Amino acid sequence: MNYKELKEKYGTPLYVYDIHRIKEIIHQYQTNFKSSQFETEILYASKAFNVKEMLRLIKDMNLSLDVVSMGELYTAVCVDFPSHKIYFHGNNKTEEEIHYAIEHNVGILVVDNQYELEKIEELASLYNKKVSIYIRLNVGVEAHTHKYIITSHIDSKFGILYNSLEYRNMISLIKNSKHIELKGFHCHIGSQIFDFYPYDIAIEKLVAIAKDFPYPLDMNLGGGFGAYYTETDHPIGYEAMARHLIQKLEEELTKQDVKIHKALIEPGRSIVAEAGTTLYTIGGIKQTPNRLYYFVDGGMTDNIRPALYQANYTLDIVGKENDFKNKVVTVAGKCCESGDIIMENVILPEAQKGDLLLTYSTGAYGYSMSSNYNKALTPAVVFVEDGKDRLVVKRQTLEELLEREI
Ligand code: LLP
Repeated sequence: MNYKELKEKYGTPLYVYDIHRIKEIIHQYQTNFKSSQFETEILYASKAFNVKEMLRLIKDMNLSLDVVSMGELYTAVCVDFPSHKIYFHGNNKTEEEIHYAIEHNVGILVVDNQYELEKIEELASLYNKKVSIYIRLNVGVEAHTHKYIITSHIDSKFGILYNSLEYRNMISLIKNSKHIELKGFHCHIGSQIFDFYPYDIAIEKLVAIAKDFPYPLDMNLGGGFGAYYTETDHPIGYEAMARHLIQKLEEELTKQDVKIHKALIEPGRSIVAEAGTTLYTIGGIKQTPNRLYYFVDGGMTDNIRPALYQANYTLDIVGKENDFKNKVVTVAGKCCESGDIIMENVILPEAQKGDLLLTYSTGAYGYSMSSNYNKALTPAVVFVEDGKDRLVVKRQTLEELLEREI
């Protein structure tokens, strides 16, 4: 990757994606998440990085799509994503969103609660359509990850507890409905998980629940597979994870004597995280009594994860990757906010103003969680493949920043 050339062409900060890496990971999932006993399907959880060109890539690679808002769904509609391969998630879909989803024949609405189910019933009857749904279950598994990204503990805002009053009400509503067809169950137990164990428990619970039904259901196991950020991360490997899930599911189905129609996974982070790198230019270098700062021309506006989750990253200075690393540095952004720090106490070589700094593994939840705080402009996004780069999202302009202001 010629970062200096990319800086000349597109400026910084800049999100740079290695498309070969994305395709390689998708391929790993596709080859290994397969069974002779049931159908399989892989969804890309687009909240990790949802832009038109990324969705076109997902479409070309024959994956299905998880969307979680009108905006994500609209982007999919704009690139003619096959509607039957779209799964609509979310714990509080608005009436407008449900309308839009039904109107556009979204494949599956993943229903999070009774209120939503009642709304779907009402709107589906208006359209006189039969809507296929999954119920999102809270399987009560708590994956050991950062507390803000655990989604399946007992009091989670996501999903329904099996056999709770709400669950039973939902099942009876579905039984009496002409417009809703229950196709399966969904669960998502957290994010950035490096362990088989929580998935095993989720599988055991889902299979037991599927036993209650007289027909074979679909079973969506969610995403959450951990990606590599720093040397303290030890991803299981996406092939191994996919193979393990299939094996565990097959074993459990045999053990509990249950048949399912289809198994699904919906990774987001693991598909894009490692393929993305953020390129910054170093401006000020400041020595305080106890710290050496390298200031970069972006920060929490293009990567909120360090401030929000104390996330760690691996950094490098372009052209100095193999230089002696003898400086303990705090890399800080340019926002008026002391917490606007990319990495604290990272060991880097000596840098000069104008050097380019790289943050690796920013492909997931970087661009998609970016903001205009301090009226920072959202950086451009570039895809690089076979040595060729192409702009897929333009850098925001000052005019665009004020476009909606009256
Ligand atoms: N499916 C559902 C229903 C989800 O809620 C999520 C992520 C995924 C799939 C994809 O999970 P992944 O494979 O990307 O871990 N902003 C946080 C991550 C929040 C994840 C929310 N749900 C972060 O930057 O770490």
